[in-house]
Amino acid sequence: MFQSLEIVEPGSARVLVLGHFQGEKPDDRTATSAARLGVGNALTGAAARAEATGEVGVIVEAYPGGEGPWERVLLVGLGKKDGFTAETVRSAAAAVGRRLATVKATSATVDFDGVLKAVGMNPRDAGAAFGEALGLLSWVCDQFRGKGSTETIRSPLAVSTGSKPFDAGLRRGLAIAQATNFTRTLSQTPPNVATPYWMAEQAQKLAKEHGMTCKVTKGAELVKEKMTGLVAVGAASENAPCLIRLEYDPTGAGTQKPVVLVGKTVCYDTGGLSLKINNSMVGMKRDKDGGCAVLGAMLAIASVVKPKRRVVAFLVAAENSISDEAYRPDDVLRYRNGVTVEVTNTDAEGRLVLADALSYACEVENPAYIIDLATLTGGVITALGSTYCGMFCEDERLRTRVEAAAAATGERVWRLPMHQEYRDMMKSPVADIVNSNPNRKAHPIQGAAFLSYFVDDKVPWCHLDIAGVHVAEKNAGMFIEGPTGWGVRLLAELLS
Ligand code: BES
Ligand code: MN
Ligand code: ZN
Repeated sequence: MFQSLEIVEPGSARVLVLGHFQGEKPDDRTATSAARLGVGNALTGAAARAEATGEVGVIVEAYPGGEGPWERVLLVGLGKKDGFTAETVRSAAAAVGRRLATVKATSATVDFDGVLKAVGMNPRDAGAAFGEALGLLSWVCDQFRGKGSTETIRSPLAVSTGSKPFDAGLRRGLAIAQATNFTRTLSQTPPNVATPYWMAEQAQKLAKEHGMTCKVTKGAELVKEKMTGLVAVGAASENAPCLIRLEYDPTGAGTQKPVVLVGKTVCYDTGGLSLKINNSMVGMKRDKDGGCAVLGAMLAIASVVKPKRRVVAFLVAAENSISDEAYRPDDVLRYRNGVTVEVTNTDAEGRLVLADALSYACEVENPAYIIDLATLTGGVITALGSTYCGMFCEDERLRTRVEAAAAATGERVWRLPMHQEYRDMMKSPVADIVNSNPNRKAHPIQGAAFLSYFVDDKVPWCHLDIAGVHVAEKNAGMFIEGPTGWGVRLLAELLS
């Protein structure tokens, strides 16, 4: 939406952004600061217009004219006072950002001091929400455009604010958005470029730039390490599988157990021999989005959040393809932790590769807790749409923390159940468990139930099925059509 986005010292901005609540005139502080800036009459006039409903994101414009520095004032609606949250700020900021881009503004200053005082929101948190929204809105991915596209002309935007804490928040929000945008660009990268080894290169580059360590396990070493799922799922493709381990280990981390993040990184999911039919294969380049989100979260962690504890990330990277080397329905796999799996459907491949990282992490990393992100099932889209991510977490403490991070970031999670009956559904007549029960019942829960066989009882674990939330279908709010980078902001918040 913008050619560039910069936060600058207040001074010579041409657009002034103010806010008001639904059914209320601008508050006294806002009116006073508008008067001080010489736009008092313009503000009063704009606020009195019928279109100034104050609903979230509804903008009325005022043109002060005269000699002043202001080209225009944007008065943005913030909804009802009692429903005001950080997500309100994001929605309002997205609307403001879109309007600024439309009118080709190159500079804007935001003054929310009065409205934030009125609702008692910390200006730093509000600034962070505002910065996130503007940052997410500014994502562009033009690397694959060529001569067939007409170039979009975008203006650079410089944003300022008179408030030091709001400004600090803006900077943080923008940095978190940049990490999210990194994830979105990875997601957008087509599968003929973004192979498992390419993902490993991105992780290695990230590690180098941000003082992390990265180890990539491939080939015979995968077999030696009993990475059964990766070896089986990746067998058919020329683009071989790998396990990527990325570690953030700050000085002064002490002896606390590490947090472990795991991301499904299926660089392309054809379904394998249980081939995806009709048009259901299109878009399966995004079956790596769990891993992409984990990488973006590691970027946010190393560059912005900087927690004083270790964080270990695993990306299980493979392509689910077809050839005579492909693993088959009826194959039985023996995992590192001793569990055997009868393959009933090669399209339930995500759980097979996640199982490697989950069991390895439990055995080797001594995790404080594990969170995995995976585009695991179409069923979760049916159940929850794109509004909530499906969450499975039987550990109350961890669940409460994930829910709090979800509420703070607007990346919503909805708990789904994990009763013993679901675990029993996965029992196999020939091995310990099947990778998919042939009936069509409770697919997202089956996926989680399967994974539970690879996590130690004592390790708190949260499985996030992001299949419904990793892409936006339409250009609206903070997102354009395409990848959302879901999970980066939630994980960054969780580790803050
Ligand atoms: N990657 C898919 C899940 C998916 C589907 C993600 C649509 C995003 C959009 C996963 O590997 C898959 O194929 N799942 C199957 C599981 C079934 C075979 C048990 C599904 O959901 O149909
Ligand atoms: Mn699949
Ligand atoms: Zn898949």
